[in-house]
Amino acid sequence: MATRDIFNRPLQDLRISVTDRCNFRCVYCMPKEIFGSDYPFLSRRELLTFEEITRLTRIFADLGVRKLRITGGEPLVRKDLPDLIEMLAGIDGIDDITLTTNASLLPRHAQDLVNAGLNRVTVSLDAIHDDVFKAINDVDYPVQPVLDGIEAAAQAGLNPVKVNMVVKRGMNEGQIVPMAEHFRHTPHILRYIEFMDVGNSNGWRLDEVVTAAQIRDALNATWPIEPLDPNYTGEVASRYRYRDGAGEIGIISSVSEPFCSTCTRARLASQGQLFTCLFGSQGFDLRTPLRDETVSDGDLAEIVQGVWHKRRDRYSEQRTSETAPLQYKVEMSHIGG
Ligand code: GTP
Ligand code: 5AD
Ligand code: SF4
Ligand code: SF4
Repeated sequence: MATRDIFNRPLQDLRISVTDRCNFRCVYCMPKEIFGSDYPFLSRRELLTFEEITRLTRIFADLGVRKLRITGGEPLVRKDLPDLIEMLAGIDGIDDITLTTNASLLPRHAQDLVNAGLNRVTVSLDAIHDDVFKAINDVDYPVQPVLDGIEAAAQAGLNPVKVNMVVKRGMNEGQIVPMAEHFRHTPHILRYIEFMDVGNSNGWRLDEVVTAAQIRDALNATWPIEPLDPNYTGEVASRYRYRDGAGEIGIISSVSEPFCSTCTRARLASQGQLFTCLFGSQGFDLRTPLRDETVSDGDLAEIVQGVWHKRRDRYSEQRTSETAPLQYKVEMSHIGG
């Protein structure tokens, strides 16, 4: 029986951040002014080791987790990541392992990741035009290597590749249709994400959110779309298909149409805190008990269960533009989205 929270939501997914570092400086995630050369990134010994992550994941699997997502920062900057995938793939009960990446290192690692047991990949790409993309990633990184990364993943068998595009007013709303044009008639699934107030670094404002309804309108005006049934209960993206048969897209409306009532996701930050919401301010420190020799797997399971039993998070259903900037929230690069 899965472990359930106060609102009866089962613990089913675990999102694991393996590093707080990234080779991009996306303006809405790791703005350069804050994440500069003097930023105190975590040291190696502060990060959970692969053995520690695997031990915890085994415990989460016993409590009902079936699906894992590896995130960062940029997870592929963590050395030997395929080794971790292989360790996780061997855990009883885990039937889906996915990775969220900016794709810059995918051509080099895609095949090793598949060989290790990775099932799927989601690539972040916020624009199809170089000038817009470079202004967003802020490290002058062009679009083509990301497209090469997507193809490398597809070639290695990680199909369908999902492509995440965060849409922010004044940044890239002009790319909604060009991105659709590029990915129509491909097997890849483009998903538009409403800009969220994750962390405190990105200066989020409600009027910068391009809503799901506005994204649907922009697409309908060019290539009409129609809704599809969800693949599973609690799916984050609402699915649509082009009426002309050019394939599927998704829209993730966490601001305008929140989905907290079906949220089954726990998040493990790279230094070992457990968060029960993306917008949490303080995680529950699992690293200390994990590194305490007197604490058994059974004790750890009880700790995790205790945290989940008390869970009452529904941030996206409660946020207002007034309260959003006031609460201290963990940064996206520490918790992985
Ligand atoms: P699959 O359906 O398994 O492919 O994965 P997914 O869509 O759940 O995963 P993905 O990490 O690609 O989610 C897409 C984006 O949705 C994330 O990057 C976040 O921006 C957002 N998101 C995912 N989970 C949550 C959540 O629990 N709360 C909120 N507010 N946003 C979320
Ligand atoms: N709002 C919405 N999505 C975000 N991401 C990062 N920061 C934000 C934000 N503020 C996305 C990334 C990536 C995923 C991990 O989360 O682009 O696709
Ligand atoms: Fe790096 Fe992804 Fe954040 Fe961009 S959104 S800075 S690629 S972690
Ligand atoms: Fe889950 Fe928190 Fe996102 Fe709501 S805001 S869907 S509770 S992570």
